[in-house]
Amino acid sequence: MNLQRRTFLLGSAAAGGLASAQSADRIPTAVIGTGNRGSYLLSGVLEQPNAKVAAVCDNKPDRLDKAATAAAKDNPATYADWRKIIDRKDIDAVFIATPPHLHSEMAIAALRAGKHVYCEKPVGVTAAQVRDLVKAARASKTVFVSGQQMRSYKQMGESVRRIREGAIGDVIWVKAQRHATADLAHDGSSGDWYFDVSKSGGYLIEQSVHNLDACNWVIGSRPSRACGFGGTQMYKNDPPGRTIFDCASLTYEYVNGVKLSFTQNVFHPRTLPFGNQYVYVYGTKGAVDLLTAAMLHPLGRDGQPSVLAEKQEESRHAHITAFYDCITKGAPSPADITVGATAALTAILGHEAMVKQTVVNWSDLGVDL
Ligand SMILES: NC(=O)c1ccc[n+]([C@@H]2O[C@H](COP(=O)([O-])OP(=O)(O)OC[C@H]3O[C@@H](n4cnc5c(N)ncnc54)[C@H](O)[C@@H]3O)[C@@H](O)[C@H]2O)c1
Repeated sequence: MNLQRRTFLLGSAAAGGLASAQSADRIPTAVIGTGNRGSYLLSGVLEQPNAKVAAVCDNKPDRLDKAATAAAKDNPATYADWRKIIDRKDIDAVFIATPPHLHSEMAIAALRAGKHVYCEKPVGVTAAQVRDLVKAARASKTVFVSGQQMRSYKQMGESVRRIREGAIGDVIWVKAQRHATADLAHDGSSGDWYFDVSKSGGYLIEQSVHNLDACNWVIGSRPSRACGFGGTQMYKNDPPGRTIFDCASLTYEYVNGVKLSFTQNVFHPRTLPFGNQYVYVYGTKGAVDLLTAAMLHPLGRDGQPSVLAEKQEESRHAHITAFYDCITKGAPSPADITVGATAALTAILGHEAMVKQTVVNWSDLGVDL
């Protein structure tokens, strides 16, 4: 492990990439934003044998204290100002789990400082933020992993592989949804930014980015245009000042011709059938329920469902382990900047279509991927 890490680090450093090519056993890592998700990521970093929590950062003192306590075995430095982390040349890897509108700026600064970056989804809430981050990530020699962790799900990966092999013929249509039984808690951990569209991007960009990424993955393409409607039908001005929608109904057309029908709401009663999340993938020979059962349903009167991909043991922190595998072993990123940016832009495209109430073309977003 040490040898591999040393070789990789030296290789990268020689290419002009890293902040420090020291031969320490464990990769000095910082977590910026130690709220709900950041705490979870921190627990994942602490489990990695090849990582050391060198610093934690949050501008809320109580969350910073909690993170420092959780990571006490590594005795991390604590910062309220994230730029202090960027300035620390001895920190090689950074996790970013702040509100979405801050991701792009923080990730760009970290990449420019030669750090490996694990950036939570969405990688940006505007096309301009995504465009700037794409440029920085492409110019950098370090690892970039976006928090689209479904890309590290083994069973889903196997389903996608089998579908790509033609298990359901040609993929022609996808129907997907993200329906919740209630709004995100108004007094929850992220209640102070979530309901402000300029900070979260709204439900579609902040949450459905996962579902849309699964659609992009299985379709093997990206949208060329989108149209649809959305609004605030239930939680009007609730919480006060709310600027995000609570429902969406969208249609996407993909570059390869596949059509996607996507809906989202936060008022699906628990007992009403067809709630929660699903991605139904329709092919010329049958369909697959990608998110949950991974069952293949063949077309035809006598068709019987069969297992497309066996259930596998999924490690809780597989995506984080994959991040360190990229650094230490030169493994490919499980969700590189193209994946992260395409997912964010797919959501941004849908959001723009709802706001402008017109068909929006991918090319209108002005981002070269
Ligand atoms: N991949 C996933 O499944 C998943 C799940 C949940 C959340 N997330 C993402 O993680 C991110 C954080 O979400 P959350 O639910 O943890 O929110 P949160 O509000 O609980 O945590 C965000 C933290 O960032 C801190 N912060 C804000 N501005 C800061 C700044 N300038 N400098 C330092 N710290 C700052 C806040 O004080 C807060 O503690 C979001 O982008 C969200 O989309 C991803």
